[in-house]
Amino acid sequence: MGNNFEFYGCDAAELAREYGTPLYVISNDAVRARCRELRESFTDRYENTRAVYACKAFLTQEICRIMKSEGMGMDAVSGGEIYAEVKAGMDPGMLVFHGNSKTKAELIQAVETGVGTIVVDNMSELELLNEIALEKGAKPGILFRVAPGVDSHTHSYISTGQLDSKFGFSIEEVENHAAKAAMDMEGVDFRGLHFHIGSQLHENDTHVMAVKIVLELLGRLRDKYGFKAAELNCGGGFGVHYKDDPETPGISMFVDPMMAEIDSFYEKLGDERPMVTIEPGRWIISDAGITIYEVGSVKVNGAGKTYVGVDGGMPDNPRTALYQASYEVVVVEKPDAPKDVRATIAGKCCESGDIIIYDADIPAVERGDHLAVLSTGAYNYSMASNYNRLCRPAVVAVENGEAHLSVRRETYEDMISRDL
Ligand SMILES: Cc1ncc(COP(=O)(O)O)c(C=O)c1O
Repeated sequence: MGNNFEFYGCDAAELAREYGTPLYVISNDAVRARCRELRESFTDRYENTRAVYACKAFLTQEICRIMKSEGMGMDAVSGGEIYAEVKAGMDPGMLVFHGNSKTKAELIQAVETGVGTIVVDNMSELELLNEIALEKGAKPGILFRVAPGVDSHTHSYISTGQLDSKFGFSIEEVENHAAKAAMDMEGVDFRGLHFHIGSQLHENDTHVMAVKIVLELLGRLRDKYGFKAAELNCGGGFGVHYKDDPETPGISMFVDPMMAEIDSFYEKLGDERPMVTIEPGRWIISDAGITIYEVGSVKVNGAGKTYVGVDGGMPDNPRTALYQASYEVVVVEKPDAPKDVRATIAGKCCESGDIIIYDADIPAVERGDHLAVLSTGAYNYSMASNYNRLCRPAVVAVENGEAHLSVRRETYEDMISRDL
């Protein structure tokens, strides 16, 4: 006690003792600070803009309430996400519904719930949505997701804007056929375009390139069909700091050059600029979260490598196995001790690939010590599974130096509760 690692004013060893491990900890203060930056640097700075939190990064009832209080919209990529958001009190009109393979049931749910924007991915979805909306007497606002053909500099599994992508319409299909079809449909209000080129991007060049391509497309739609967009959604993908990455950039680095392109395009055209939307997920939540584990084993294997086994692993953090993500780690009881051991931090699952960090430099640890893995706020809890029947960890939120339980730890009983 006393010299332990602190996270936003809370002693991490105390949190582990009180709530158990593995434990996700989210700083609400850090989340709110990012929302504030979005306001100051984007929505208050540029008229007719909005920021939408991409909840796939981290979704709890509490985070929805925070987003609502911060004036943010939220995205959704499934009926489950829409349900969770509305249940938490989000205004359905502030929701943006994505997905490359939405089910009929999900489209009906979105229309019945009054989701503000449906981002249509393909022609068959457009036709089905039109039918559903006509049947329900609704006219949902829609955007088209387009694949601008930009290869972002990121892991291929999180690159989404290239030509050969499962997401969205091709530019040609929108230009030659789909936009006109949507304009002619009575059941949808075709409002504009959306792109999302990938995740964890640290440079702004690919966003700017995508903006230019999409603006050119909007220019051609205007010339050909007289279509004037009411909204341009530039997606998310704004990068954050992990172990080997630069520090998390300010949001201005991404939005300023995009806004300059967009404003100048519309100034030249003499048209009113459409509303510009961005959808950050990771950028809002990643640095706001850590995961605390307890060390269960320490050994040197036959190859002379040190392995530190912990009480979680790929079920609570699949990102290392999925994308070769790399994380920083702090030994909770010895945050300032010399890091003279090189160790691989391994999970407890029956998979050789169940590694959380390869080759971390840490002080010597023993069974019972705690590790805090940093920047796990995004795509950890939301991607968690029950592999090997591990219970999903609890989520604790910290605010003004006080901790409270946000999501209770799963139990063995929870895990078999749906088995018949
Ligand atoms: C359509 C869309 N918008 C926003 C995001 C959020 O991305 P990030 O968390 O990298 O900001 C994603 C991520 O997959 C996405 O698919």
